[in-house]
Amino acid sequence: MKRLTIVLIAVVALLAGSASAQRVNLLCSPDLAWCEALGPAFTAATGIDLEFIRVSSQDALARLSAERANPIFDVWFGGTGDPHLIAMREGVTEFYEPEAWDDIIQNLKDQVGGTYIPLYAGAIGFVVNEEALGGAPMPTTWRDLTDPVYKGLIAMPDPNSSGTAYTILATLVQIFGEDEAFELLEGLHQNIAQYTSSGSAPGTLAGRGEVAIAIQFMHDGIKFANQGFPLTVYAPDEGVGYEIGGLSLVANAPNRDAAIAFINWALTPEAQQIAALQGDSFQIQSNANTVQHPLAPNFDEINLIDYDFDRFGTPEVREQIVGRWTNEIFPQPR
Ligand code: G6P
Repeated sequence: MKRLTIVLIAVVALLAGSASAQRVNLLCSPDLAWCEALGPAFTAATGIDLEFIRVSSQDALARLSAERANPIFDVWFGGTGDPHLIAMREGVTEFYEPEAWDDIIQNLKDQVGGTYIPLYAGAIGFVVNEEALGGAPMPTTWRDLTDPVYKGLIAMPDPNSSGTAYTILATLVQIFGEDEAFELLEGLHQNIAQYTSSGSAPGTLAGRGEVAIAIQFMHDGIKFANQGFPLTVYAPDEGVGYEIGGLSLVANAPNRDAAIAFINWALTPEAQQIAALQGDSFQIQSNANTVQHPLAPNFDEINLIDYDFDRFGTPEVREQIVGRWTNEIFPQPR
């Protein structure tokens, strides 16, 4: 009996030891400041270590797909929703119903059909440095962006790496139809100074006056304006698409228990408030009990299109529009 007790104590001690050495590997797609703030707060709350790398949404999807036979990451945190939906459909990630599921804003769940966990929402917009326009008028429509008066004055992200850019392409296809959208993208390409690999980078270029117009998420523009850059953030007349950023459990995650602990923690109001308070990120957070930051955009005041998440979260549709952009638009001289 005594020996059994000693063995049991040893086993318990071993388990406790391994629990404290638990860790979660995160693929993190929002802006770096938010990603960096997650680890210390999560470790303080749970004792579990967290390692992350920041990778743009489209690159994250490619990376998870390439590693699917031997996953390295446990959780994919943030990034636009379309690639999360594609990852789920391709079996690269799996659906886990979090403890806070009933508290997630119903409308967000309805729109993505309960396929992945909504983490936040944000709308695309124009982020404009008026002084850098050099006398050209502020653009008010998507079509305006093809006017030669804006040559060399516009930056947007690259659809091959960035989920923001994919949301922009999907928005144009939904407003104008595919062929007309690609005509517009051809005209826009003539005015592009730089395609950036991450979604928020165009706003830093506009903030410094290196370009005048950034096409990106409004909340990213709001962040740079709040940092003191002379930027105006608004939606063009034809309307804008939006994201329902995702949170996904990687299929066959090497640290599944830690991954689930992280997902449950990340959806608490306390954890969601880290975005604005420490991460300088002003998306609308998905838990209905999270106090939204005053700088978070109000969707009721934005001319949103009726974004078709189901269609644009399909691998074939993604390949069609990103492939067409890569083959027909990007190689054109400008
Ligand atoms: C920024 C935005 C996020 C968005 C993300 C996508 O960080 O603040 O709301 O989900 O970009 O990043 P990506 O680099 O893939 O466009």
